[in-house]
Amino acid sequence: MTVTEEITPSSHYERIGGAGSVKAAVELFYDRVLVDPDLAGYFTEVNMVEQRRHLALMLTVVLGGPNEYSGRGLAEAHQPLNIPVEHYVKVGEHLTATLTELGVPADILADVQVVLGQVQDQVVASESRQGA
Ligand code: HEM
Repeated sequence: MTVTEEITPSSHYERIGGAGSVKAAVELFYDRVLVDPDLAGYFTEVNMVEQRRHLALMLTVVLGGPNEYSGRGLAEAHQPLNIPVEHYVKVGEHLTATLTELGVPADILADVQVVLGQVQDQVVASESRQGA
């Protein structure tokens, strides 16, 4: 997952305060995603510790932070989940709302949108992508 390196030469991750800020964002983001009836179902089999880790990884990827993740690729992890584009968009909206709430500046939010666009094809189910 080196996708963010090209567009974030000096890391947004560091600019917003590094690991501590990402941890705070995870808590807020978690509360949003897990109460969303369209999204909660994906996570019933995933325990809360793993889920927090997932959100921290997501945020780190979209903010261009240190990539300490050496597990499965994004496509490998998400294609079996059959995630439609609508649900991907919703998660993106919760993420943006979380970062906005934390006062993350507009230029960083704009780059987050770019990264969300770049990784979409790996996360969203291939059948639901037509015309997207
Ligand atoms: C920017 C978008 C995303 C990124 C960067 C991302 C990142 C990741 C990573 C790195 C993993 C692997 C964790 C591991 O195997 O240790 C993972 C797993 C997972 N992701 Fe995402 N994710 C994204 C979007 C989504 C969305 C939109 C959903 C659901 C609506 C989702 C649901 C899940 C679930 C349920 C798992 C666990 C799968 C399993 O353990 O079998 N992710 N994600």
